[in-house]
Amino acid sequence: MAAQIIDGNKIAAQIRGELEKEIITLKEKHGVTPGLAVVLVGENPASQQYVKNKNKAAHEIGIYSEQHNLSKDTPEAELLALVEKLNADPKIHGILVQLPLPKHIDEKKVLILIDPEKDVDGFHPMNLGRMMVGDPAYLPCTPHGVVKMLNYSGFKPAGKHVVVVGRSNIVGKPVANMLVQKTADADATVTVCHSRTKDLPSVTRQADILIAAMGQPEFVTADMVKEGAVVIDVGVNRVDDPSSPKGFRWAGDVKFAEVAAKAAAISPVPGGVGPMTITMLLYNTVQSAKRHLPK
Ligand SMILES: NC(=O)c1ccc[n+]([C@@H]2O[C@H](COP(=O)([O-])OP(=O)(O)OC[C@H]3O[C@@H](n4cnc5c(N)ncnc54)[C@H](OP(=O)(O)O)[C@@H]3O)[C@@H](O)[C@H]2O)c1
Repeated sequence: MAAQIIDGNKIAAQIRGELEKEIITLKEKHGVTPGLAVVLVGENPASQQYVKNKNKAAHEIGIYSEQHNLSKDTPEAELLALVEKLNADPKIHGILVQLPLPKHIDEKKVLILIDPEKDVDGFHPMNLGRMMVGDPAYLPCTPHGVVKMLNYSGFKPAGKHVVVVGRSNIVGKPVANMLVQKTADADATVTVCHSRTKDLPSVTRQADILIAAMGQPEFVTADMVKEGAVVIDVGVNRVDDPSSPKGFRWAGDVKFAEVAAKAAAISPVPGGVGPMTITMLLYNTVQSAKRHLPK
């Protein structure tokens, strides 16, 4: 039987619809419009596109959003001053500094200066620590999107063996951490694999839920997946394809067709985790607006 497709666009639209209602209530009951500030340093075309998409998605559901474009040679002190200004701005509930930053700027210094209460990217050590101990936190957007996808599609991770391939700070480690929490939408048994894992296929074959976050195009093949597993493909890889008009195509970390023939459910690339990432940024911004309501 063909696998069910876990449609990230559909789940993202559902969550954005829920957020839109919450924003209307915030405006009508409290006179508050959630506000997002996105800071872009330099002219990296991929970053410009991400920032544009984030602003557009925010506007579409009624979030106030402003974009700060700084030139690539902006001194670090100028960027830090802007972050401090946004920290103090009451109409801004979420601050996002688009990464990567130019080499002369210390990324860690910038991220740590963002007020943890406005850290809608969830990368501040304070939020990562809160996440780890299970306290309310702004959760990093991509891994949080994966957790939401599993729950909204009915493949609840509770009691399941989840195998995560990848241990980056932005995807692998946080998704493993979120899924091991003692909460109704998590409660999984989690194994984390990486490039030093011995006999990777023997581990991935044990997964009820397999999360591939490696950045290796179509690495996960059918022989690495258990019959009836649920597969979430986080990978976004640009691969050369002379048959495509653009000369390339986007591929996940999973060999989609052959794994889909064996899995119970699978998320596609594109149209899987991608749309969830921006949605969880909007989600965090709305949460922040609610947390900042006058007591
Ligand atoms: N959809 C989205 O919104 C979104 C957001 C973020 C990332 N992504 C995509 O997700 C993928 C992962 O991103 P990332 O930032 O987490 O990547 P990353 O920082 O490069 O980390 C990759 C991880 O995969 C592991 N790995 C690489 N090759 C492996 C192999 N052959 N066997 C086992 N493990 C292996 C690495 O192990 P070591 O630690 O041992 O090196 C590392 O932990 C990328 O394709 C990225 O584009 C998508």
